[in-house]
Formats: sequence, C-alpha cells, structure tokens
Amino acid sequence: MQVAAPLRRSPNKSTGQEAIEMDRQLQLNGFLERYSEGGPLELRVAATIDAIATASVSLSHLISQGALAGIIGSEIDRNADGDIQKDLDVRAHRIIRECLKRVPIATLASEEEVRLELRDPDASVCVAIDPLDGSSNITANMSMGTIFSIVRAPTDAKTAFERNGSYQLAAGFVIYGPQTSLVLTTGDGVDVYTLDHADELYRRTRTKVTIPTATSEYAINASNYRHWEIPVRTYIDRCMAGVAGAGDKDFNMRWIGSLVAEAYRILTRGGIFLYPADAREGYGEGRLRLVYEAHPMAFIMEQAGGAATTGYQRIVDVAPRELHQRVPLIMGSLDEVREVERLHAEAGMRDGASAPLFAKRGLFRV
Ligand code: F6P
Repeated sequence: MQVAAPLRRSPNKSTGQEAIEMDRQLQLNGFLERYSEGGPLELRVAATIDAIATASVSLSHLISQGALAGIIGSEIDRNADGDIQKDLDVRAHRIIRECLKRVPIATLASEEEVRLELRDPDASVCVAIDPLDGSSNITANMSMGTIFSIVRAPTDAKTAFERNGSYQLAAGFVIYGPQTSLVLTTGDGVDVYTLDHADELYRRTRTKVTIPTATSEYAINASNYRHWEIPVRTYIDRCMAGVAGAGDKDFNMRWIGSLVAEAYRILTRGGIFLYPADAREGYGEGRLRLVYEAHPMAFIMEQAGGAATTGYQRIVDVAPRELHQRVPLIMGSLDEVREVERLHAEAGMRDGASAPLFAKRGLFRV
C-alpha cells in the first residue's frame, strides 16, 4: 500500500529532522500511516482514504480551472436517480473510480452508476461515494464536494449497502471551496485537513472538531415551505418569529444549496440543516441520498458531538431498501435537532400514530 506521499521540502521551511517529523505528523499521510498500524482492516481503510484523497487533489485542480479545463457545466444525461448529470459529475466519477482501482475494495456504489460495481470479493471494505455533490454550483463559482463512506464488507459483498449506517468504518467529505479541505472521521472524532497546493498534500488544520450544542442559525430551502410537513413548518415558523414569538432567541438563516458547504459551516460554528420530506412529487423522502450522503454526514455529525435524524429516526439506524434511496436529513447542533425530533413526535401523537409507523411510511410518501 502506498499511503505515504513524498514530502517535498520548500526552501523557506526548516530542514531539521524534527521539523520534518512534526510536519509529517500533521499530514493526512502521517495520520493514515499511524492508523493503519491498527491491523489489516485499518490498513485497507487507510489505503482507500488515501486513494480518495489522491483523486480529490486532481479534482480540486480541475474544478479550480473550470472553463479553462473545458468544464462549462453542460448537462450530459441523467444519473441513476434521475438527477441531471453534468460534465463535471462524469469526470469526477471517472477520476475517483480510477484512483480506487489501486486498492482492493469489494464493491463500489456511486451516485453516478445505477448498479453496484462488484470488484474484489475477498476485499474487506466497500465504498459508497457521491463523486461530486452540488456540481451545478460550478457555473456560479460556488463550493461543491465529494462525499464518501467506507464500510466493512459483509460475507456477500452485494449486500454491503442494504444495511444501516453503523457498519461505517470511516466517512468524510472533501469541500472544493476557497480552500480544498478534507473532513474525516474513522470513528474517533473528526479532523479537518486542508490541501496545501504547493506540496499537493493534505495538512491537518483542525483536530477533534466539536459542533456547539446550541445554535441560532438554520439552513433550509424555504421556497418549499408550502410543501413541508407540519412539524417542519412549526419549527421554521418558530425560528422566524424568534423572540417576537414564543422563542428565546432570534435566528439567522443561510442556504448555500451545497450539502458539503452547509455541513462544513455547521462543523465550524454550529447550526441546523434541514432537507425534509415534502409533498412535491418525488420528494416524499426528501432529496438527499441515504447511502452516500446521509449516512456519512450522520457519522461525521455524531462524531463531532452533533446529531442527524429523519425527524423520526436516527439516520445511522436507517437501512436502505434500495441503493439510491432518498431520506429526509436534519442534522447539526444537538439542541435544535432534538427540538425538531420532539415536534415530529408531538405531531405523531396528535395524529394518533406512533413515530416508528411514521418513520416507515412518511407523511407524504409519493
Ligand atoms: O444533492 C444535491 C444538492 O445540491 C445538495 O448538495 C444540496 O443540499 C441540495 O441538493 C440542494 O437542493 P435544492 O436545489 O432543492 O435546494
């Protein structure tokens, strides 16, 4: 396994052995080397993260070039889930797929492929990936990202993504923004690495990220207000009314329309993000995909002291019925996520239905 990338010394940096070693400790490669000492499974996980990180360096470069690299945001097709596929989505998928060929994985699930790709049946890990989330943002020069989840391979690798999110060994996302940063958890907190373009290396810039429990910032696509279920409307009504209503604080709102950017902001200063189910056709389970968007985000949020729920059920506990299944996703600061869950439970009681029943059928399932 080639976990370590060569450390290039720049002339203005110390050349002392200690300084080199300290620098190496801060690099993603340094972390992956230490982590892979945990055993054969950790070694495989580390190699897979390394492959995704390598792909993300190429992607970062491509995205920053934009039209100069022939990326004009043109629509090519529709993906597995019927979403518009942009030129960049397809290139991102190819780049990541190529990099992942260097490591043994049992199956690969990608947003851009209808079916699971079966690879090495003896490999111990499987990967689910959204190669480029929010790709439509390219034309607006806004942030987008790569989201990934690495799970333990079951005996029958075809069933890897028929299970709930608790089989995740690692999850993360790369945000291609003003900086390219990689947010990573291997189940022991969340660290953030920032791409040093000069050396083409990720260096750790934040350790053991903690999401503040309380927040006064929410993110939701408010244009869908009329389609939401009652608990979501009630929650947003309260946020908007602030102290003039029943609340004890006023709220601020942000909506970037890029999941990785919203998640990164929450990891930086707290907040709550909601993409709930709604009554529009095809949105009965929200918009975001469970296996390669919600599961990894939920793992990251919980590892940073936050939470992620459908409103009725913890996201990590949801097992998909099918690979590209969507799921309502509400995540972020603990106090607010719990409040949204409370409103859902209350609505469930009022309507004479138990929350688990709601969790299964949804109010507006279409
Ligand atoms: O899944 C794609 C995505 O662009 C997410 O990154 C983002 O959270 C969401 O869709 C935005 O959806 P909408 O355009 O409905 O607000």
